[in-house]
Amino acid sequence: MREQYGRDGLSEADLAPDPMTQFGDWFESWAATDPFDANLATVATVGTDGWPEARAVLVKGADERGFVFHTNRRSAKGRAIEANGRAALTFVWREIERQIRVVGDVAHLPDQESDAYFSSRPRGAQIGAWASDQSAVIASRAELEARRREVEARFPAEVPRPPHWGGYLISPRRVEFWQGRPDRLHDRLQYRRVDNHWRIERLAP
Ligand SMILES: Cc1cc2nc3c(=O)[nH]c(=O)nc-3n(C[C@H](O)[C@H](O)[C@H](O)COP(=O)(O)O)c2cc1C
Repeated sequence: MREQYGRDGLSEADLAPDPMTQFGDWFESWAATDPFDANLATVATVGTDGWPEARAVLVKGADERGFVFHTNRRSAKGRAIEANGRAALTFVWREIERQIRVVGDVAHLPDQESDAYFSSRPRGAQIGAWASDQSAVIASRAELEARRREVEARFPAEVPRPPHWGGYLISPRRVEFWQGRPDRLHDRLQYRRVDNHWRIERLAP
């Protein structure tokens, strides 16, 4: 399977005019094979101390605006994004030798979209979002469980979205599509935003 994909390669003529359409094409064809984690990506941020940090997230939307993930906006990643509005996102689909790298500006997803996503989550996940002060140091597992019980008692019926929890929308400035090829001579085609247009460039592998 690996060889079969690698042999096909990626040429300039294959590409859609904009990277979100191209992402959609790649995502749909990979998702159609029912992989476990097509929407799993690593999001990297730079903190106010200048240090980069990266962590896994599930990308819950990709449309003409960009890529969406949901998190606690007071977490380490949330604070970094609130401070500089930038992130990088990388998908790796090892079985088909594809990688997609995104660099972009980050904004809050509109509240109604965050509300809609939050309300679609199971009650346990909603409670967890309130109970966890994500990225803070805590004393023990028992402290977390006590917080969970408090939140369960506080919201016996519907659980509202926490004000500090919601979606981030990464609007790409650069998106690279990487296709593995034999002999390490991989295809790397990058879309770069220049003067309101997408410029497509080939990068050395
Ligand atoms: C498979 C997987 C999916 C994850 N998805 C998310 C997610 O969508 N949102 C999120 O906030 N954290 C997610 N996490 C947890 C993050 O990787 C991370 O531990 C957490 O967000 C705290 O990161 P931070 O301290 O750098 O802000 C996921 C972890 C794994 C392993």
